[in-house]
Formats: sequence, structure tokens, C-alpha cells
Amino acid sequence: MESKRVQNLKNQAISSILEAESDKELEELRIAYLGRKGKISQLLKAIPSLNPSARKEMGQLVNDAKKAIEQALQTQISNVECRVSDLDKEWLDVTAPGKKPTIGHFHLVTEAIREITAIFEKIGFTRVSYPEIEWDWYAFEGLNMPKNHPARDEWETLYIDNLKQKKYGRALLTPHTSSGQLREMGKRKPPIRMLNIAKCYRRQSDISHAPMFYQFEGLVIDQNINLTHLKGTLNYFVKAYFGPNRKTRIRPFHFQFTEPSIEIDVSCGLCQGKGCRLCKQGWLELGGAGMVHPVVLKNGGVNSEKYTGFAFGFGVERVLMMKAGLKIDDLRLLYTNDLRFLKQS
Ligand code: PHE
Repeated sequence: MESKRVQNLKNQAISSILEAESDKELEELRIAYLGRKGKISQLLKAIPSLNPSARKEMGQLVNDAKKAIEQALQTQISNVECRVSDLDKEWLDVTAPGKKPTIGHFHLVTEAIREITAIFEKIGFTRVSYPEIEWDWYAFEGLNMPKNHPARDEWETLYIDNLKQKKYGRALLTPHTSSGQLREMGKRKPPIRMLNIAKCYRRQSDISHAPMFYQFEGLVIDQNINLTHLKGTLNYFVKAYFGPNRKTRIRPFHFQFTEPSIEIDVSCGLCQGKGCRLCKQGWLELGGAGMVHPVVLKNGGVNSEKYTGFAFGFGVERVLMMKAGLKIDDLRLLYTNDLRFLKQS
């Protein structure tokens, strides 16, 4: 019976020693078994009080157990040391699976610009970009909005101090890409199929407006161009960009530089036009368009008796949000460079 107890004690000691992972644990185990009041030491102390016949056998057993425990301690001390020094050496596990390199992608707005460009290039539009710093004449006057015309208020324009020209007026930051219509007409003769994508600036900054944003402006001028060409082009764009199930509708509107003027809505992608939290009535507003006003054609040097044209101008960030069915809390998130937001594709 006694010998069984010693055997168990020894086994238990050895297995906990071999599981120990630090010097501290090993030292605690040494004290628990071999220390002055340790379990082995107590057994040894009890030997003299045994009867002589049992003494020898017990003495042998306990001493063997003591030696085995000492040896296990020694082995495990060097194991633990070895592990620590391996870590110090910063070893390289050549069998570990490789880490995937993080691959970036274009900014969400850049991706949208590239996608929009490709869609219009397919039907013969040419991508252009006109100046961000522009003259009043191109942004307003030439677009049939004379000085002090109230329609200008809509564009909350940022003007540049102390920079003006006699003919073209004050310098400003383009508040819309429609200035590109006159630039294009000044540069090319009809037929024209222009896609102007450029930065626009307005004095507005809130959850649904950023002071700098992008617009894409289409301009088509040729003989016999009419409203049905505009409608067909917009239908094509909406289906190509948002998906084949999305519908368009047009509403009468007013711009000084188009006649007639319209606004275009796209059916909501979340509720398929039934009405939901995102769209309320089933439709999302895309932006403005219309037939180019004869005064604008004339200002661009185009014979309005011979040619007609249509134009449209939409916000890139807006179509991007509409496509994703996204209602982000703050549109300015697109420009605050928070990687958690930008990493999504
Ligand atoms: N420039 C207009 C805007 O910023 C949009 C527009 C473009 C309207 C072309 C008609 C024709 O809202």
C-alpha cells in the first residue's frame, strides 16, 4: 500500500514538472516535493519511525522517487531555457503558410469615374476635363446667366480675389461642369459628344454636401438632336451603371442654359420603386439635363439654326451612393481618408 502511494506521488510530480513552462513554476514544484517541508522530505523524515523490516524497502523507494524527480526537474529546466532562447533568436518557420500581401484599389470615387467613362465611351463620347479655375463667363454669363441673375444663387460659388479679365469677368472655382460646354464648343466643331468629368466647388459643407465634389457632364451637338436622344442616352446609362431593372423618369425643371429643362430620377434599387426608408417615394434624384439653349449655342459659336444639342450634369458621389443603395451618415466620409471606409470595394 505504502509503496503504491510513493509511486503515485512520483508519477504525479514528474508529469507536472514536464508540463511546467517557466522557471518560476519549476521552482515552485521543487519546493513542493523536495523542499524542507516538501512531500518527499516528509516521507524521508517518517522512515526512522517505521518498523525495521519496512524501513529498508521504504528508504529505497523514496530515494528512487527523489532521484527521478530531481532528474525531471533538471531536464525541464533546460527545456524551458531552450524555448526562451529560441524566441530570442527570432527564428524563421519556413513551413508557415505565407501572408497575403494587401493589395490596394482605386479610391471609390476614382473607380466610379472610370466606370462612368467606360460606359459613355462605348457610345462614342470623348472624355475631357476642363479647368477647375474658370472665368465667370464660362460658368455663368455664357450659360445665359447674366451678372446679378438670381439663378446664379443656386451655385454658391467661391470667387477668387483680385483676378479678373475684361471680357470673361472674375475668376472662380467651377461650381458645375457646365462651363465645359462652352469650352468644348470653343475647341471643336459639331458633331460633338463630350463627357467632361471634373472637380466642382461650392460653399456648402454638411452631411450630404462636400465643398469639393465631382460632376460628369455630357454634351451632344449635331443636326436633328432632340429630347428622345437625351432620354435614350440616359436610359442607356442608368441600365449600364445601376443595372437592367432600374427605371428612369423625367420631370420638368428649369435651368437658364437648357430649354426645355428636366430633372431625371432613377427607381430605387433597394425597394424596386415601391418606396422605402432610403427613397421614401420609390425614386432617387439623379440630376439635371435638357436641350442646350440657343443662346448657349450662339455663345459657343455654334449655328443654332443648323444644330441642336442636349446636355446633362450629374454628381459622381451621388451616383456612387445610389448604386450601392448606400445611405452613409456623412457624404464627406469619402474624403476623410478613413481606411476602414475606403478599403471596401
Ligand atoms: N449644371 C447643372 C447643375 O449643376 C446640371 C445640368 C447640366 C443641367 C447640364 C442641365 C444641363 O445642377
